[in-house]
Amino acid sequence: MNNPLQLCYPVKTLTGRELLPAGAYLSRDTMKELIHLAGRETYPARKLMEFAAVAADLQCICNKQPYCRIFSDPVRQKELLKTMQQVEFTQPLLDIYGFFKACDPYTYRHILTVFALTLLLAQDLINDREELARAVAAAPTHDFGKICVPVAVCKKTTPLNLREQALLSHHAAAGYVLLSFYLKEAEHPAATTARDHHERRDGSGYPRQITLRNRVVEIVAVGDVFDALISSRPYRPQSYDLRTALEELSLQARSGAISEDVVNTLISYNRENHPCHTACRFSHELRGTPPPGNHYQGITPCRYEPADIQEEKPGV
Ligand SMILES: [Fe+2]
Ligand SMILES: [Fe+2]
Repeated sequence: MNNPLQLCYPVKTLTGRELLPAGAYLSRDTMKELIHLAGRETYPARKLMEFAAVAADLQCICNKQPYCRIFSDPVRQKELLKTMQQVEFTQPLLDIYGFFKACDPYTYRHILTVFALTLLLAQDLINDREELARAVAAAPTHDFGKICVPVAVCKKTTPLNLREQALLSHHAAAGYVLLSFYLKEAEHPAATTARDHHERRDGSGYPRQITLRNRVVEIVAVGDVFDALISSRPYRPQSYDLRTALEELSLQARSGAISEDVVNTLISYNRENHPCHTACRFSHELRGTPPPGNHYQGITPCRYEPADIQEEKPGV
């Protein structure tokens, strides 16, 4: 990493342990030290699908509106659940699932949904077994860094101001640090996906404004935006309907921000009989209407400003 990320806020675990302070650069040496620190600690591992009600919650998401058509193929759904059954996590990571379920149910449902969507799309788009394994490893934790964002910001019912946007954007770097620490590997697909899932192919994303060229992360990014658009949020009286959400994604793909073939694959799952994604194109005609009172917005990423942000207490 030539230009290391700098943390705007501290990264703390759920128990309040500070892993890195605000202002830390996520250089190779810093990450090496962090992983060295984690190396002395061992955690028991369990299957994610056997933790709490994760399996039942996932099935509920897949079988209800707005996802029942996308996950309507029972054979494909069975394959997905089988793949998900293999995913194991150490207890601190399972605790993060538990935290979201108890304190921020939207994020809990969103994380599980993006997990399922990523695997569904990856099965069509990725042929290489190792890359597919990376997708399975990367998909279930993309927003874990939100434990370092005040719950009040994650659940705010009105548009975020610039300061709140900065706090929210911290979740990408925070997720990278947390997952590198718990998985003991800074290049683990889960850690790099947490860091890069808001980056865009044209460099318009954050936190590093890189031109994203990572198949797995690009798939997560599309699932992430799609779910954000079609899910009901407290600040949005109505969510996007499927047609308008897919139009929005197609516009973003055409502008070069996200991958067109990933979007086309998603479109194919929204069509009757699920045609092959290579045969799917979205009409250039815009027929959908974004919901009234829509506050879907890009966010302004944070920049480290010591005097300005020291009093913030993310995670509270
Ligand atoms: Fe995110
Ligand atoms: Fe997300």
